[in-house]
Amino acid sequence: MIAVELLNVSKEYSGRVVLRNVTFNVHEGEFFVLVGPNGSGKTTLLRILDLLEEPTSGKIFFDGEEVDYYKDRVPLRRKIGMVFQQTVLFDMSVYDNIAYPLRIRGSLSKDEIERRVMNVLEDVELRGFDRKNALTLSGGEAQRVALAQALVTEPRLLLLDEPTANLDPKNVSIVEGVLSRLNKERKTTIIMTTHNMFQAERLAQRIALLNEGEIRAIGTFREVFGYQSQLTW
Ligand SMILES: Nc1ncnc2c1ncn2[C@@H]1O[C@H](COP(=O)(O)OP(=O)(O)OP(=O)(O)O)[C@@H](O)[C@H]1O
Ligand SMILES: [Mg+2]
Repeated sequence: MIAVELLNVSKEYSGRVVLRNVTFNVHEGEFFVLVGPNGSGKTTLLRILDLLEEPTSGKIFFDGEEVDYYKDRVPLRRKIGMVFQQTVLFDMSVYDNIAYPLRIRGSLSKDEIERRVMNVLEDVELRGFDRKNALTLSGGEAQRVALAQALVTEPRLLLLDEPTANLDPKNVSIVEGVLSRLNKERKTTIIMTTHNMFQAERLAQRIALLNEGEIRAIGTFREVFGYQSQLTW
């Protein structure tokens, strides 16, 4: 089953092409990693997958159905979790930050919200942090709260924009562990960006190599990076 498909997606900002004819698909339950240098278009591509931006041209399909932005954006975005490159937490407790996306959905009881928030805090190894103000956290802790915020809604598709870029090795390993378990145990489809090829090798089933807005290669790590001559940065 194909969960998400992009067909000839291009994006221009004020006439400048940032993504050009991007075509790929991601299978249900796959861990898919987009690798590319600064400015290659990774964030733009994730924002398009999160339906925050519309492509200038091209099509997007979810579960085989072409996305109609007017009709589908709100219901589809409820099934998508996104961890942004820059973490933005609110000036309130860690608990309230994580509960927030559940409260705005409005469909869960207080007890169910508490159960989910406490579980997810355990997953990201932040047990005991629930009453702390989120703005007093270290960068690594804040990044894990942002991950918890995305996980608490139990998304079918999880998008992560360089979720470990500023973390130390211990935090990197916690985040990678959470993502691996989520993908293996819950079969959550994950699309993550990184400029760290070693991380891509550790996590990805398939990799897409993005450079200057174009997909240069797609495949397993070996298929993409098997030959030294293909390393272009
Ligand atoms: N809203 C915007 N308006 C104009 N240009 C933009 C906008 N968003 C992105 N760009 C441009 O598109 C290009 C790709 O940016 P993008 O943020 O997608 O790259 P990236 O691969 O995520 O880079 P990084 O590794 O630094 O996060 C850049 O040249 C950027 O300046
Ligand atoms: Mg980026």
